[in-house]
Amino acid sequence: MQSKHQKVQIGIVGGTGYTGVELLRTLANHPFAEVTMITSRSEDGVAVAQMYPNLRGIYDLQFSVPDIEKLKTCDVVFFATPHGVAMSMAPELIAHGVKVIDLAADFRIEDLAVWQEWYGIKPASEALMAEAVYGLPEYYREKIRDAKVIANPGCYPTSILLGVLPLLKAGLVNANSLIVDGKSGVSGAGKGANVAMLGAEMSESFKAYGINGHRHLPEMKEKLSQLIGQQVGLTFVPHLLPMVRGMESTIYATLKTDKSQAELQTLYETAYENEPFVDVMPAGSTPETRMVKGSNMCRMAIYCPPGGNMVVVTSVIDNLVKGAAGQAIQNMNIMFDLPENAGLNQVALLP
Ligand SMILES: NC(=O)c1ccc[n+]([C@@H]2O[C@H](COP(=O)([O-])OP(=O)(O)OC[C@H]3O[C@@H](n4cnc5c(N)ncnc54)[C@H](OP(=O)(O)O)[C@@H]3O)[C@@H](O)[C@H]2O)c1
Repeated sequence: MQSKHQKVQIGIVGGTGYTGVELLRTLANHPFAEVTMITSRSEDGVAVAQMYPNLRGIYDLQFSVPDIEKLKTCDVVFFATPHGVAMSMAPELIAHGVKVIDLAADFRIEDLAVWQEWYGIKPASEALMAEAVYGLPEYYREKIRDAKVIANPGCYPTSILLGVLPLLKAGLVNANSLIVDGKSGVSGAGKGANVAMLGAEMSESFKAYGINGHRHLPEMKEKLSQLIGQQVGLTFVPHLLPMVRGMESTIYATLKTDKSQAELQTLYETAYENEPFVDVMPAGSTPETRMVKGSNMCRMAIYCPPGGNMVVVTSVIDNLVKGAAGQAIQNMNIMFDLPENAGLNQVALLP
């Protein structure tokens, strides 16, 4: 679809949070899109550049309370809000021809009973939930093109699905017993006040959390099962890293038949050879979060540790970019027939 305007006009609901400001930072360099509206209920009337001085001189916008009539003038609205917000406003926007990209979980899980069990509220629009497309471009690109509503994937699911799918799709590993250790920087929890995220609580320390169940688990199991046409068993243990941004997922799978490191390397390089935002690193590399910090890249490496039949994949993303705002913009680019990398060519910040 093409915008009726010279540039794609964007509204952002939830502009004061971490993914909201990451959308603003990234869209500042987008040649074919502009942010025309940004909402916050708590910062109504405050200038964007006052709250985020890194954006001084770039945006002449003020936060305003969400107003659906004004949002209807946009081509696309990004929801960078807690779950439950997008699904309440999306039906009216869609009816008005406005595309919706939800960075939260409202449209991520097709099985409504499962969604309700994990998110604790009733889905607002069952029809729209059924129509939404999961916004992982590497596996859903054709559906994304014509989608009205995009469910932007969770950050852990992005790093894990990209990391494990070449093995699963090739049928090389046991799909019943995948194990993933995920680690995320604290910005993954958003900007809201939370004692566990205070510097004195989380720095100089490291812990697992959500071992009995993290909301990204049903999302991953559903999408993996759909993509390979068989039920997937997954043990997922997330961890909190004492740093601001970045996410590393270490994936362990059992090979069904012997495969050499070189064969697996070729499988991965072939799977992603045309993907602008997935980098399969040379054999023996160790992806680090700083290799993707601030960029829309997912970098990964595949290993066959000696003396067993396990294969290990490590995958890194910036949780706020490929794990949220960058991927949302990648989806917008596909939906509006723009170059997929428009506005997304930032090089990672290293050191
Ligand atoms: N942080 C990450 O790494 C990450 C990665 C992937 C996906 N996500 C998902 O993206 C969404 C946003 O995450 P975040 O980390 O940016 O959150 P956040 O820092 O807590 O920000 C939330 C934003 O939503 C607004 N908001 C809250 N309740 C609202 C409501 N009822 N109606 C309208 N606006 C409301 C807030 O502003 P006001 O209260 O002032 O309106 C704020 O701007 C979440 O669903 C999160 O799960 C986050």
